[in-house]
Amino acid sequence: MKWAREEEPVFWSPELGYWVVTRYADIKAIFRDHANFSPANALEKITPPSAAVQQVLAGYGYAMNRTLVNEDEPAHMARRRLLLEPFTPEALKVHEPLVRRLAREYVSRFIDAGQADLVDQMLWEVPLTIALHFLGVDEEDMPLLRQYSIAHTVNTWGRPDEAEQLKVAHAVGNFWQLAGRILEKMRRDPSGPGWMKFGIRLQAEHPEVVTDSYLHSMMMAGIVAAHETTANATANALRLLLSHPTAWAELCRDPGLIPNAVEECLRFSGSIVAWRRVALNEVRVGGITMPAGARFMMVMTSGNHDEAKFAEADLLDIHRDNAGEHLSFGYGAHQCMGKNLARMELQIFLEELTRRLPHLRLAPQAFSYLPNMAFRGPEHLHVEWDPARNPERRDPTLLARGRPVRIGAARESRPAHALRVDRMRPLTPGIVELRLVPEPGVTLPRWAPGAHLDIECGSPGRLRQFSLVGDAAQRDAFTIAVLREPAGRGGSDWIHAQLRPGSVVQARGPRNHFRFDETQRRALFIAGGIGITPLTAMALRAKQLGMDYALHYSGASRAGMAYVEALAGLHGERLHLHVKDEGGRADLAALLRTPRPDCTVYACGPQRMLDALPGAMAAWPEGALRVEHFHAAPGRLDPEKEQAFEVELRDSGAVLTVPRDRSLLQALRALNIDVQSDCGEGLCGSCEVQVIAGEVDHRDVVLTAAERRENRKMMACCSRAKAGGRLVLAL
Ligand code: HEM
Ligand code: FES
Repeated sequence: MKWAREEEPVFWSPELGYWVVTRYADIKAIFRDHANFSPANALEKITPPSAAVQQVLAGYGYAMNRTLVNEDEPAHMARRRLLLEPFTPEALKVHEPLVRRLAREYVSRFIDAGQADLVDQMLWEVPLTIALHFLGVDEEDMPLLRQYSIAHTVNTWGRPDEAEQLKVAHAVGNFWQLAGRILEKMRRDPSGPGWMKFGIRLQAEHPEVVTDSYLHSMMMAGIVAAHETTANATANALRLLLSHPTAWAELCRDPGLIPNAVEECLRFSGSIVAWRRVALNEVRVGGITMPAGARFMMVMTSGNHDEAKFAEADLLDIHRDNAGEHLSFGYGAHQCMGKNLARMELQIFLEELTRRLPHLRLAPQAFSYLPNMAFRGPEHLHVEWDPARNPERRDPTLLARGRPVRIGAARESRPAHALRVDRMRPLTPGIVELRLVPEPGVTLPRWAPGAHLDIECGSPGRLRQFSLVGDAAQRDAFTIAVLREPAGRGGSDWIHAQLRPGSVVQARGPRNHFRFDETQRRALFIAGGIGITPLTAMALRAKQLGMDYALHYSGASRAGMAYVEALAGLHGERLHLHVKDEGGRADLAALLRTPRPDCTVYACGPQRMLDALPGAMAAWPEGALRVEHFHAAPGRLDPEKEQAFEVELRDSGAVLTVPRDRSLLQALRALNIDVQSDCGEGLCGSCEVQVIAGEVDHRDVVLTAAERRENRKMMACCSRAKAGGRLVLAL
């Protein structure tokens, strides 16, 4: 595949009878173009069945037909939209306790044995039980279903010889009949939870969309889609991580890294390695024109190792920030509906195993795989460990621990890393300075003045931003200063009340939306109160560069102002203090009345101060003012004042309405579209989406005025369509 990506990225394989597509960009382009590429061949048998096999299958009344994955538009989207609800993040939450309970039970069964075949003893049966539960199917004979699913895989994507084909055909026929019986039983009482029951209930209202043929075919295909894919993915992930002991040790130490590690494992070693499409019209793929009817096999696992998309693609990097953009779930209109259930299982399995068996290692073994062109995962995974070293023998409370699962992709654009509080120093009665150091052996990322860290204040969802203070050239620690704000949103209170030297916090970043322009001759820094923090780093840099600069620092009283002495020592006359209770007050209007050439104004402080600046700087050229916001402008959505709007998603072929009480980000998530986000309030820039058409009412504080005018991107967490408008997005 590597050779092909470089030399002949789209090639004809006479053995397969398909055009094989190997580059990331070409594969994604096919997935996103549902008007020209049909998935009708997705479940076609790769080995044409012989007459004898057809006869056997006919004997069972086998009539596998279109489900979702191989259905064309517009029928597909109508069906997908109706059937989506049980896959939404809220609906998936109900499965978390079962996934966790099963994972714990299965691990407990073998934890004292010192060795196990994880596939046979856990990774096959747990996903199967969850799949049945998700579908609403009573627990059936598990070994029989396992045998049937394997037969289905070989039947569809394998190269069985005539004798095996016949054997497989009987299993597939039986599977088909069993699916029919399960369906009939459900039809008698379709009440209660489960996706298939949900489908049966919908059939009463939409018989033309949820057809009989769909239900029977899906009953069988659904068991495979929900189970074998995930069983293989978990086995691949464990094999991969256990053969990279540094990554495994990092996950054991810091389970906050697991969601991103799951994406990296899916990228590196996904469980569906190839998928098919057929051209509906004349198409161009990788620069080659092909006629209607051309058949394509997209090798996603090759796209996932494409250096043009993933730097050092053959290295496993659980910190990789674009790991979530892998193709293992497909992309666009047919993208895997069950991806978030699979992610949940992967996260929980990894979390339970890293916590309870951190000393797990691979046993010496040769791996075997079921020969087929789509599904891939080791048939056995032998592991071993010393049970005497099981941590729960020393600390039984360990068993009950566990982090709440993050439903969806690893949403942050950058994974969190653990930082230890090395020192805490009060700067004023309300402000404490924290020196944060990495785990031994880990180097901190570089940062530039103006950058901030996002710190998880007590829970993964409660992120707060704190500017980095001091000298960016020092690489051994991050320093932040935190003002306790009792009327704030609880982040600063948590830091003051909960953290002590030795505490460990999860942090993301550094990220920088407040960049310092080192190429200019002059700089004017305007700080109010705790807003001094990023400006300490900028002013220091300005001094190091020999720039012409001044730092204006206002506060209510000298005793409440951090770093006054240190700044005076460093900047001498360039520091101008404006202390209110000493009668000083910054006259910003006078200070900024006359524009200065080749000068940028950097400001951070209370909203009132920041709001006054654009007016005071009316005569300055555009872009002369740079502001750091730590409180979002938009605040909460007020449904009374908002309007619903429509959004077309070009790649997914979906149209959605964003109601007046929901953000675009929430509406996208409810449709299972992966969009990253951190702050959720227009501060951080991680939820940026590309705009193809429509006018945006920008409410973030990230985009510049010029970017807003260009109208090519928007922040999904807070910005909306202009009143009465409609947006078209590249999603
Ligand atoms: C579709 C992979 C788990 C249900 C797909 C597709 C792939 C895939 C490649 C076709 C995408 C396309 O054509 O663009 C995977 C992998 C999984 C997994 C790698 C596990 C790691 C699941 C689970 C469920 C599920 C757990 C159900 C609970 C579906 C459905 C579709 C689908 C219903 C058809 C969607 C459509 O055509 O609209 N999956 N899947 N999958 N998957 Fe999954
Ligand atoms: Fe931070 Fe939208 S999530 S800007």
